[in-house]
Amino acid sequence: MDRILIRGGNRLSGRIAISGAKNSALTLLPCALLTDEPLTLRNLPRLADVDSFGHLLNQFGVSTMIEGTRPDEFGRVMTMRASRLTSSTAPYDIVRKMRASILVLGPLIGRMGEATVSLPGGCAIGNRPIDLHLKALEAMGAEIELAAGYVKATAPGGRLPGGRFTFPVVSVGATENALMAAATAKGTTVLENAAREPEIVDLCRLLIAMGASIDGVGTETLTIEGRDRLHGATYRVMPDRIEAGSYACAAAITGGALELVGAEASDMRATLVALQEAGVTITETAGSIHVAANGPLQPVSLSTAPFPGFATDMQAQFMAMLTQADGASVLTETIFENRYMHVPELARMGADIQVTGRSAVVRGQSPLIGAPVMATDLRASMSLILAGLAATGETQVSRIYHLDRGYERLEEKLQAVGADIERVGDG
Ligand code: UD1
Repeated sequence: MDRILIRGGNRLSGRIAISGAKNSALTLLPCALLTDEPLTLRNLPRLADVDSFGHLLNQFGVSTMIEGTRPDEFGRVMTMRASRLTSSTAPYDIVRKMRASILVLGPLIGRMGEATVSLPGGCAIGNRPIDLHLKALEAMGAEIELAAGYVKATAPGGRLPGGRFTFPVVSVGATENALMAAATAKGTTVLENAAREPEIVDLCRLLIAMGASIDGVGTETLTIEGRDRLHGATYRVMPDRIEAGSYACAAAITGGALELVGAEASDMRATLVALQEAGVTITETAGSIHVAANGPLQPVSLSTAPFPGFATDMQAQFMAMLTQADGASVLTETIFENRYMHVPELARMGADIQVTGRSAVVRGQSPLIGAPVMATDLRASMSLILAGLAATGETQVSRIYHLDRGYERLEEKLQAVGADIERVGDG
């Protein structure tokens, strides 16, 4: 299995092009199921999860075609066409490898009036149940049956009537599934306490481009008037705010300066504010964000929260960065119950972090020393890369398939700005 080797200590400087957002791509791709016309997505990141999603769509009879990209475009262009769906079942084999497969539930029931999807099961960062996905669909008129590890959702009479649902906790995935199902429901659906993440806004924009009627985009109340049919569209995936935030932390932890080309500041305000509190200089220009570390990093206290709060997907990277701050920081994880798996690995490199319940105290200015470490989930992996960039000596990160799920051409992008990083095989 491949590993990543980093010889730390280099100050990063230069430009990094930010890819299309993974989490947005994973909710835009299933929209292909909602129409018999072609859907073209531009700026798709070249990631394992995007490829897997393409294979999942093929299972339902959707054709997928990857086109050449224009010279000025980094991302991939894919056209999908679901002229006729041949199956409405998402099998265990695919769902267990990629949790986001659950996002076919809403569009399948929207288009076919039924969907059978394997239950995703446990996940490294917590239990991650799907009860809210099911409750929202039920409120819209779906009948739900659970049997043999699968969930079967059926729309009586072939089409959901629509309905009103208030999410008891904010859920990105459940909001996405409900939105996609509501787009072709018979009547109106109102979703309250809906997620407001930029990826939800991206999904609403695509659905509207396909002919959907959605009010309240970007707010916590979404009103969707179901349409008889949706049509094809061409749409550009938003930039990845988590990738951009991760590279901002890379600039900060190495005392460097990076221009994040294509990053959108309004999608990642809480991250930028937290970086500024840590003493990092942020300059926003049209089409990019410049991040520069001048002088020692300052400690900060942060609590993760749904958007517009500080993203849970940035917690691990900030933790790595704050091991170098001038004092003690406190991080509190409120979204997922088991999202500190990077702590023991960072500790092996010399970090001083104490976890009590949902909070972690990070005592700064620990000298980090390179070590063999193991990636445990996607963002945890990035925190180890960041620690490796700041450590003395060599860090070896194994199980990097986690990184390949979410960071496009990671080592190439970091090499280009001065990091001593390479991917090596076992051979
Ligand atoms: C998405 C993102 C993930 C991010 C997370 C929170 C994708 C592919 N993944 O995950 O990167 O970390 O949002 O911003 O976009 N919950 C329930 N019942 C449910 C659904 C969720 O209790 O049916 C709970 C979860 O356990 C968690 C919280 O709600 O505690 C938020 O989870 P959710 O927003 O649904 O995360 P995902 O959509 O899975």
